[in-house]
Amino acid sequence: MSSEKYSFLSRPLETRKSEGNLRKLDTVTGLSDFSSNDYLGLSRDLALSEKIMERALREGPLANGGTGSRLLSGNHRHYVALEKKLATLFQAEGSLVFNSGYAANQALIAAVAQKGDTILYDQLAHVCIKEGAWLSKADSFSYLHNNLADLERRLIHAQGNVFVVTETVFSMDGDFAPIDETLSLCEKYGAHLIVDEAHSTGVYGHGGSGWLVQEALHDRVFARVYTFGKAMGVHGACVSGSQRLIDYLVNFARGFIYTTSLPPHSILSIDEAFNYLADHSELPEKLHQNIAFFRSQVAGAGSQTSIQPIMVAGNDQAKATANALKEKGLDVRPILSPTVKRGTERLRISLHAHNTHSEIRQLCNALEQMG
Ligand SMILES: Cc1ncc(COP(=O)(O)O)c(C=O)c1O
Repeated sequence: MSSEKYSFLSRPLETRKSEGNLRKLDTVTGLSDFSSNDYLGLSRDLALSEKIMERALREGPLANGGTGSRLLSGNHRHYVALEKKLATLFQAEGSLVFNSGYAANQALIAAVAQKGDTILYDQLAHVCIKEGAWLSKADSFSYLHNNLADLERRLIHAQGNVFVVTETVFSMDGDFAPIDETLSLCEKYGAHLIVDEAHSTGVYGHGGSGWLVQEALHDRVFARVYTFGKAMGVHGACVSGSQRLIDYLVNFARGFIYTTSLPPHSILSIDEAFNYLADHSELPEKLHQNIAFFRSQVAGAGSQTSIQPIMVAGNDQAKATANALKEKGLDVRPILSPTVKRGTERLRISLHAHNTHSEIRQLCNALEQMG
C-alpha cells in the first residue's frame, strides 16, 4: 500500500518534524542515568531481581498471564494478598491494583464523577488525569497550577459532587502541591480530593508509603493513586481509599473491569519490591542526600525532589543541549512542547539513589559550562 494512502497520518508527522518535536524511540545504554524514574535503582537491583525469581519459583508454577479480567478468571490469590498488604502500608481500608498508573487515574476519575458533577484538576496534572476527566460525563475545568485562589474561585461555582485532582510531586517541575491547604479548601466546599502519588510512592513515608501517609494527611483524602513503575522499579499501580470506594471501582471502573489482569509474576514483583524497600531504608535516604548534593551544586535549583527541571526554551535548543550532555556520557532528556507549554521546554533531570557524587558533579559542571 502506498504511503500516499495514509496522508492523514503523514501530515501531522510532517508538522511535528517542522516544529522540531518529532518523537522517535531510542535505546540508550552505558550513560549516567539522569533520566529514568527508577529513583531508587530498584529496576536494576540484582538482589531484588533474585528475590523475585526465588519467590516465583517458590510460589509456582505460576500462570504466564492474567488469563482474564479480575472479575472473571484473572483474580489469582496473589492479588488478594498484595491488596491486603498495600491497604496496610498505605493505611487505607482498601487498595485495588490497576495495570498502570495511567489506567488507574483514568479509570478512577471517569468512574466516580457523573453527569452534573464537576472535576477541577491542576493545569499541570498528568495527561491521564485530564483524560479521566474528559472521559467522564462531568464538567471539568483546570485551575492554575498550585493556585489556591483560582481553585477556590472555581469551587464556589462548582455543581454536583465536586472532585479536585492534584499530584503530590508534579512530574515535569518536581514541585509539591500544597496538599494541606488544598484539603482545607475541599473540606470548606464539601469537595472530594484525589491525589496522584506517582512520584512520591517509595520515595517518602515509612516503607515507601508516600507523602500523604508521611504527613498524616491520608485519612482526609477521598482517593489516592500509587504507582509501582517509578521508584518501586516494577510495574502497575493501585488506588487506595475507603472500602466503599474500592467496591464501587470493582463495579464501575471500566479500565479495571474490561482488561486482562496483570500476570501473577508482576504481582509477586510488586510485593517483593515493597519487602525489599522495607529492608533497605538507606535507598530513599541516599536519594535525599543526592538531591541535597545536587541543590548545593546548582545555584537556583528550585525543586526539592528527585525531579529537577532546567529550563532551555525552544525544542531545538532543548534537544541540542540534551545531545551535548549525551556526548559527555550523561543521559538527560529534553521535554519538548507540546508535552509542556511552548516556551517552557526544558531538560528534566531525574536524580537517583544510584547516582554517584562524581556523576552529579560532572553533570553540574557540564550544565554550568553550557550557561
Ligand atoms: C504524575 C503521573 N501520574 C501517572 C503516571 C502514569 O503512571 P504509569 O507509568 O504507571 O502508567 C505518570 C507517568 O508518567 C505520572 O508522571
